[in-house]
Amino acid sequence: MQKITVFWVLLCVFSNATGQKPNKPGDYLLPEFHIERRQALRDQMPANSVAVFFSNSVRNRANDVNYVYHQDPDFYYLTGHQEPHAVLFIFKEPQLINSSTTDEIIFVRAHHALMELYDGPRLGKEGALEKLRLDMAFEGTEFERFNLDFTSFDKVLFYDFFNDVRDTKEKGDLFDLIRQFREKVGYEQDDLSIEPRNNNLDIVMLDSLMKNLRGIKTQEEIALLRKAVDISTIGQREVMKAMHPGMSETEVQGIHEFVFKKYQSEYEGYPSIVGAGHNGCVLHYIDNLKPEIEDGELILMDLGAEYRGYTADVTRTIPVNGRFNPEQKQIYDLVYEAQEAAMEVCKPGAGFTDLLKATREVVNNGLVELGVYKSAAKKHITDPETGRNRYYPHGCCHHIGLDVHDKGEYDVLQENMVITIEPGIYIPSGSPCDKKWWDIAVRIEDDFLVTREGCELLSDLAPRKSEEIEALMKESSPFGELVLPELKD
Ligand code: GLY
Ligand code: MN
Ligand code: MN
Repeated sequence: MQKITVFWVLLCVFSNATGQKPNKPGDYLLPEFHIERRQALRDQMPANSVAVFFSNSVRNRANDVNYVYHQDPDFYYLTGHQEPHAVLFIFKEPQLINSSTTDEIIFVRAHHALMELYDGPRLGKEGALEKLRLDMAFEGTEFERFNLDFTSFDKVLFYDFFNDVRDTKEKGDLFDLIRQFREKVGYEQDDLSIEPRNNNLDIVMLDSLMKNLRGIKTQEEIALLRKAVDISTIGQREVMKAMHPGMSETEVQGIHEFVFKKYQSEYEGYPSIVGAGHNGCVLHYIDNLKPEIEDGELILMDLGAEYRGYTADVTRTIPVNGRFNPEQKQIYDLVYEAQEAAMEVCKPGAGFTDLLKATREVVNNGLVELGVYKSAAKKHITDPETGRNRYYPHGCCHHIGLDVHDKGEYDVLQENMVITIEPGIYIPSGSPCDKKWWDIAVRIEDDFLVTREGCELLSDLAPRKSEEIEALMKESSPFGELVLPELKD
């Protein structure tokens, strides 16, 4: 043991002496975080139960190319493991396995010299023990010999399976792990509510246990979310300075995402939404292909950097030419007012629905005052006289974290929740109102930490007020002046 420690110390000293730099950023969540989270789950689990989590599946893009792999958020939260083809067992009480007692087991991919030559090193079971600090680890190929008696538990907690896992034909791959697990616990049908075959199987409870945990952020998670939000808002600032008519939506998306990468954010937390003019009316517009953004248009930009697994979710809507026209400004300022109304209500004890109500009231009444529609009374949505919620058809708030629409309770706000407030107004052309409003689409989306007394605006680096946006747009950015050679015909 001592020899190994001396070896590692010497290796580290040697690495530093030769100037070898680390391969990865050093601010990922530490194994201690995941260990503590596993214990927090264990504490919530019912007596004599086991919770089972499978890694995310590898999804095929085309032929022999897969989509970039992204771990299942629950699996990542509990382990820090970023590889596919793994299964995790967390026991409420320690179990005797292979003559040792343990309260957790992970099965991970075995080493494979050829595949590691192509795809890079695998953690292997020794890595799962040493680096992830799981208590017991095996290779996926060993799952076959894992003879745990699942009938001895009062509850076997797992999520139902989606039929989208490809068989790689390798023993111990995810397909094989799921197939074997189903056999071992006797789970045949996909919906236990129809006819539970074995009443200790539970595909419902785990979701609420994980919501309780993931909905309230730890200090480590909040620190990472702050970084994700800062990076995303710096992206918004840079685009505000660079923006001019004639740019393409793709180019604008590229500036945001370049800023994300510059700060070593690994991914976008969700597909970036960059919609100019009428494209802004499509709530989840992700084509981002309009070649030339036009003078006089608004552009709605909803993007979030993912930083060490945690994603921001920030939207800014700006005038492409740097000045809101009178109608755009009226709608923009109304959305701003709606967001401010929700911020007033945002504190522990308030309901998510209170925030939504606050934003809707401002939008519905404001659009009547502007004459966009005559009445905000509750009538059928197709009635042209009334516009209640017609141009604000979505919710206003959700948790963010390892998922952009993160797991958490959606009842009452609690300290250390991190949420969005994102009212919007979208008036597509053809709407039953004066044409001057057509194709105005505005969303303002910010990220908030619920504090003991109220809430803290995390995304304050990017201006929200219309005047502040116009002021920042007068500044310049190298991205607005970047000239590259024309492509050959
Ligand atoms: N970006 C998706 C959303 O705002 O919920
Ligand atoms: Mn959102
Ligand atoms: Mn968003």
